[in-house]
Amino acid sequence: MQGPDNMSISPTLMWTLLAAVILVCQARPNTQLDSKTGAGLRSECMGNLMRLSFDKALAVGNQLEVEAINGSQRVLLTPALAAQCGYSMESDPWGNTRIYTSLLGCYVHNTDTTFHVGLKLDMFNPTSPEIISHNVQKTCSYSRWAQREVLCDRNYMEVLLLLLLGACLDPTAHSDLQLICINDMDSSVKGDIWKLTFYTPEPITMVQREAEQAGYGAQTTAQRLVIRSPYQSPETSSEEVAGIPMEVLRVSVYYSAPAGLSVIDLSAACPIGGILFSPEAISWHMPRSLTPVVDSSARITELYLGMNGQRLDQSDLSARGYSLTTREFHIVVDIPVGAPDGYYKSHAPEQQYHVTFSVEPMLEVLWKASNGQETRYKVLFPITTPLMARPPQAYDQTVAESRVFSLLAGTFLQDVELKNITFLSGTFSVEECVKRGFKVLHQDHPNGTRSFSVQLGFDEDVVRRRNPEPLVTLYSLPLTLGFMILPELSPFSLSVELVASLYDVVHPSLSGDCDQEMFDITVAYGNQGSNFETFETRVGSRTLTAENAGQYYFRENATHFAFSVPYSALNTAFEMLTSDSVRARLDVLLWDPTNKWPVGDLSLICYFPLITIQCFPNGSVSAVALKLESVPKLQLDRLRLRDRSCRPLLTSERSVLFSFTVDSCGTSRKVNKCCTNKNYSPRQHVSCYYKVDRSVVVGVGLGPSSTPVAEVGNGQGAVHMTIATDSSYSWSYGPEDFPLPKFLQEPVFVEVSLLSSDPRLELLLQDCWATNSPDRSSVPRWDLIMDTCANPEDLYLTELLPVLSDVRGRLPAHIKRFVIKMFTFTQEEHMLSDQIHIHCDTVICNANDRTDGACKGQCSNAQKSWSQGREFKHESQGRLAQTSSGPLLMQNEAN
Ligand SMILES: *[C@@H]1O[C@H](CO)[C@@H](O)[C@H](O)[C@H]1NC(C)=O
Ligand SMILES: *[C@@H]1O[C@H](CO)[C@@H](O)[C@H](O)[C@H]1NC(C)=O
Ligand SMILES: *[C@@H]1O[C@H](CO)[C@@H](O)[C@H](O)[C@H]1NC(C)=O
Ligand SMILES: *[C@@H]1O[C@H](CO)[C@@H](O)[C@H](O)[C@H]1NC(C)=O
Ligand SMILES: *[C@@H]1O[C@H](CO)[C@@H](O)[C@H](O)[C@H]1NC(C)=O
Repeated sequence: MQGPDNMSISPTLMWTLLAAVILVCQARPNTQLDSKTGAGLRSECMGNLMRLSFDKALAVGNQLEVEAINGSQRVLLTPALAAQCGYSMESDPWGNTRIYTSLLGCYVHNTDTTFHVGLKLDMFNPTSPEIISHNVQKTCSYSRWAQREVLCDRNYMEVLLLLLLGACLDPTAHSDLQLICINDMDSSVKGDIWKLTFYTPEPITMVQREAEQAGYGAQTTAQRLVIRSPYQSPETSSEEVAGIPMEVLRVSVYYSAPAGLSVIDLSAACPIGGILFSPEAISWHMPRSLTPVVDSSARITELYLGMNGQRLDQSDLSARGYSLTTREFHIVVDIPVGAPDGYYKSHAPEQQYHVTFSVEPMLEVLWKASNGQETRYKVLFPITTPLMARPPQAYDQTVAESRVFSLLAGTFLQDVELKNITFLSGTFSVEECVKRGFKVLHQDHPNGTRSFSVQLGFDEDVVRRRNPEPLVTLYSLPLTLGFMILPELSPFSLSVELVASLYDVVHPSLSGDCDQEMFDITVAYGNQGSNFETFETRVGSRTLTAENAGQYYFRENATHFAFSVPYSALNTAFEMLTSDSVRARLDVLLWDPTNKWPVGDLSLICYFPLITIQCFPNGSVSAVALKLESVPKLQLDRLRLRDRSCRPLLTSERSVLFSFTVDSCGTSRKVNKCCTNKNYSPRQHVSCYYKVDRSVVVGVGLGPSSTPVAEVGNGQGAVHMTIATDSSYSWSYGPEDFPLPKFLQEPVFVEVSLLSSDPRLELLLQDCWATNSPDRSSVPRWDLIMDTCANPEDLYLTELLPVLSDVRGRLPAHIKRFVIKMFTFTQEEHMLSDQIHIHCDTVICNANDRTDGACKGQCSNAQKSWSQGREFKHESQGRLAQTSSGPLLMQNEAN
């Protein structure tokens, strides 16, 4: 059998109420009750005991002193005196207290049938001078005394024997009792206890005074002899009875009565073990036959189970789930763990949460021996289960979409309080947490348990954030809940890490624009921070920093930042050069240095006006070459003209300037052959056109080209292009005539007409150009009409012809004519193709509304300059249409 842990039968009585301070506060109003009358205290007579009880509401502080009232005097009941005199007191940790007084205890005014008990309670708190006192007076009658009674209270064992008065019984019938026959009927005549011999089993003899000094109680009343011993006194012994450990007192009392000296043998045995625990139940075993108190022939004639000193009837027992059974050798009491008469208590040994369950059953047995002698036996047996581990559970109740972490921790007993929460950044008391806006709550459940909940938003600074992938945020909240068990103030803790992830990342977005000189970049912050230094902004090969921001014309507001980069800055890339512009690119990358991934990028390509070739009337030419990105190995300072002795005039990191005259440096001269196209750098062709009689010159530089060409999709078919046989435009070639053979320089009469009879419409040529393939967007391309005017660089080729009338009766406004001279595309003096195709983008306008754009009329603004960073624009009110010619075939003159 396992001995009960923490059984409160040790002689050190719990005199100190462990009531928590919080209980003190609750209790203070109650102290207004008139304490002298003992209000709030319940005193009850329970057989041979008087029970005084009060609950925690009455406990004023955590200290209680009890004095016995002895006539006009008060005697402070120390633990030792209480055990000697028949008093016991027990408080649970919250201050619920029961005090038992044996009716045969010291200071009880005893008439053998009525017993008057007077107690004074002093309740106080060591930190406060206030003392609340209660006086309790209680008179109990009890007459059902058996000849012999054994009481096992919490702190002492008591045995009493009825001294038979009057006629002596047949001594043979009571030989074991060695009763004294007192013939004197005067009950006031009492004898004296002279000495006591304890058997340990060695006999130890003391006179009464010595025994009392040793802590034993030995008294006589008018009719009874009472011996009391605290547990674990030197003169008691431990024995097993029917396998149950018992503490046994055996004593012979030398009693001198007027009739003479008698020796009376007394014994008591109280259990100090016999408990079996399971997680669900407590099983208490008592010997069925309690030798040495009664002999084995004695029969049980009464058997009762009680709780907290109160006897229970059969219906109470079954209602509360208790069972009381007698077996061959044992009386067995079964009590479910958690039964209503007990209580749970939290503990935290080594910071681990545990609970115990305590209950104080009472067993009463009446044995009747074969000689008729009765022994009444009563044991109050406080039982506390061993520690039962209740590892606290943490339930992560977070719903990620709500962006709030939600933790439920439980369940605990209601003597547990949450004191603080430790986050990565430190520990905050619950009050501080609430002040920060965290929701920290506790909930008490009807079954006596308590759980705690903590809720706080993902955006709180105690939450850790990480991006496991670019668009996902992983939120984690490691926290430790610091709990405290009241009233003992024992701490323990629970650590958890809550984790949630969300697709909630919005990266910055970049946009860009250009003016004539600069790339302008605007970055709209995402939701990852609104400081440009949240991420690394890489501009080309450089990083934007607070120090260099000024160089980039940096500006910012709450939602955006912007900066500008000159196209000629070193961190741009030159992609292509035309005669009048440079195509440059700026790469911007937003880089997340923590996660080492990009969060946004932009490559902005713009044409910036740049005169790369200048032809002067005096025959001098200047040409600029740039270091293009596609030719990374190009060493500008080693560039030469065709004549390798012609070196650059100026060289910088990314550009060189050549200056030469047309008759030097290997310049070749061609007459009337136009428009070479050259596809690959680093070779760059520079051409100057000189009209022989006039000093009007134009530079044309064609680099590798992929100039974007807008596609215009509507109006197809409404406009028609034909090639006329001669300048009269009376006849035109039919489809069967194509490819149309033409000699170099032979005029080609082009007509574009609108297939409509609506006099309100006017047809305008927006742009016309020639390619060497039927694909209107192919390169090489040569512009013939640009923005409604003949290409000013193409003076020799294109001439817009006025249409005054039409031989076929069409409206002149529906017809546009121009003439070009047959040419081909050549490269390195080789013909690229012997064909050309002519394409036009046209606008069909309302003839009466020449308000804007192309509809102002065919080349209405002769000063129009189209040269700079030309972009295709169609702001016109008119409808757009496209048309193309069939192939014109270059006819070799020799043929
Ligand atoms: C109790 O009172 C009795 C009689 O008044 C007295 O003899 C005895 O000494 C008192 N006991 C104590 C402990 O004061
Ligand atoms: C007590 O009630 C709570 C809430 O209803 C429940 O979670 C818990 O498991 C219960 N505890 C016991 C011991 O029944
Ligand atoms: C948090 O509370 C626990 C339990 O009450 C306690 O042991 C611990 O010292 C407290 N921590 C801090 C930093 O106050
Ligand atoms: C911030 O700057 C951006 C771009 O420069 C602009 O679109 C936006 O309206 C500005 N916002 C405010 C609040 O000024
Ligand atoms: C030709 O004219 C340009 C511009 O007027 C001038 O800069 C250059 O020096 C002249 N070249 C010669 C060789 O005279």
